[in-house]
Amino acid sequence: QRSYSVGSTFDFNAHLFPLSASASDPLYLSLDPTATNRSSSQNLEKQKSITYLNGLSLVVGLQIGSGIFSSPAQVNSNAGSPGAALLIWLLSGILAWTGASSYAELGGAIPLSGGAQAYLQHIFGDLPAFLFAWVAVVVMRPGSAAIISIIAGEYLGSVFWGSLTEDTDPPPQLAVKAIALMGMWMITFLNCLSTKAGTRMGDVFLLIKLISLMAITVIGIVVAITGFSVKPGGPSMEWKMGNWFGGSSKDPGAYAVALYAGLWAFDGWDNVNYITGEMKNPARDLPRVIHSAMPLVISCYMLANISYFFVLPSSVIASSTTVAVRFGTTVFGSVGGILFALAVSISCLGALNATTFTSGRLVYVAGKQGYLPKVFGRLGIRAVTNSVSTPTTTTFRVPIFGTSYTRTPIYAMLLNGFLTSFFVIIGSFEALIAFYGVAGYSFYFLTVLGLIILRYREPGLERPYKCWIVTPIVFCCVSLFLVSRGVFGAPIQTAGVIIFVMIGVVVFWVRVGPPKALKRVFGKLRFWKKGRKEEGWSAVGEARP
Ligand code: ARG
Repeated sequence: QRSYSVGSTFDFNAHLFPLSASASDPLYLSLDPTATNRSSSQNLEKQKSITYLNGLSLVVGLQIGSGIFSSPAQVNSNAGSPGAALLIWLLSGILAWTGASSYAELGGAIPLSGGAQAYLQHIFGDLPAFLFAWVAVVVMRPGSAAIISIIAGEYLGSVFWGSLTEDTDPPPQLAVKAIALMGMWMITFLNCLSTKAGTRMGDVFLLIKLISLMAITVIGIVVAITGFSVKPGGPSMEWKMGNWFGGSSKDPGAYAVALYAGLWAFDGWDNVNYITGEMKNPARDLPRVIHSAMPLVISCYMLANISYFFVLPSSVIASSTTVAVRFGTTVFGSVGGILFALAVSISCLGALNATTFTSGRLVYVAGKQGYLPKVFGRLGIRAVTNSVSTPTTTTFRVPIFGTSYTRTPIYAMLLNGFLTSFFVIIGSFEALIAFYGVAGYSFYFLTVLGLIILRYREPGLERPYKCWIVTPIVFCCVSLFLVSRGVFGAPIQTAGVIIFVMIGVVVFWVRVGPPKALKRVFGKLRFWKKGRKEEGWSAVGEARP
């Protein structure tokens, strides 16, 4: 059996980080704030610090964000009946789970940071890996962060503007975007400051959102049994009248839209794959994280949705984009609305925190790899001067959330912050979601297809976790279906994705030089410069193009 392990013939760190002696890579140290003996930096194993719980928090923290509080309208209006909507939620959860299981297998077999970037690189080579990094770093990650920040801005804005009911005007767009930007930069700033600040804040946020979802469930059940509500008129009790499947849609296209909305709420299941290289025990913990996060989130979402139905008439759920707030006002009046609006904003900020953490790492790995300018593969403040033979340490103590050190991929996170701001400012919500859907599911498809290919091509590769082969096949079929629906449903965004990928191909060739076949054809034109490769491109580039 062949496996990725330190010291085996295939040294993955030399492979991924050829430009830096990875043993002296301070990022790993920064994840271990208690380590004062820098010589431990020479031991790769000791620098791995992401535990099972950290991983769980990163996945669940990103999954529970905006979706469960704002997607029900889209799921319901398209599914047509409460029963069909609940089935869509269940189906979305299971589909996300098939994708996540597939990624767990890949992450175990190829235990590198960077997620799909590392897997695509191993399976298909540099170009697809670069294109993933390109689209993910420039659009998908900041675009999705922008969506989440805008939703946070809408909810917080509606608290400040006192516009929590459907009959009051929503807060002005400018205010929403300003709040979104402030929240996003606050989180980026904290994550730049220290890794610990980021993870601790994530844990606090996660706790708050789990409590909110639990509260929704308990309140729903109490209301269903007792009919309790503060507001006269209160809960409709429509569910008692019973036809849960009456009016279900018959249009497969409508179900596809509903599925997209449901899948958005479950998206983020690949979050821990971006930092597998920093996990203490990826072989054991990666599948554990996935197989505990998925059932947890699926049950939370199912329970919350059932509770929505207990309290609100299905027509309201289908039309309100702020279901959780309607839920709160119906049961507890305006105080309930404010509380739930705050809970949703916190949930979004938590998801933003979880995505910022790993986006920073993705950009960082892409910078190291030579896919991006090298500066992004650097850590910001030189708080630690690390020399392999004589480790000298200067650390700044940051008095936030206890203690920590400022060795984070600052440049990477700043890039992510600026791109996110750009999308918050110019982006329209629907356009961003559509772009994210088409591009995201294309790459999910390609990566999971790669898993199937890898099974045949490298049957001997050590796979600490192996998923049932039907799992990736199901995921591939559904993602292909979703991409094709997206292509027809949002042709402009699809064209955008295609153009963007083409630009990526050109950027790749400019950086690495075009493939041999093209060189033969256009050999005399020399539109690329010789020697570019040496500049930033890694040893990986040497091997392939
Ligand atoms: N599930 C999250 C939500 O409901 C969205 C996750 C977006 N994905 C990402 N990689 N940022 O808000």
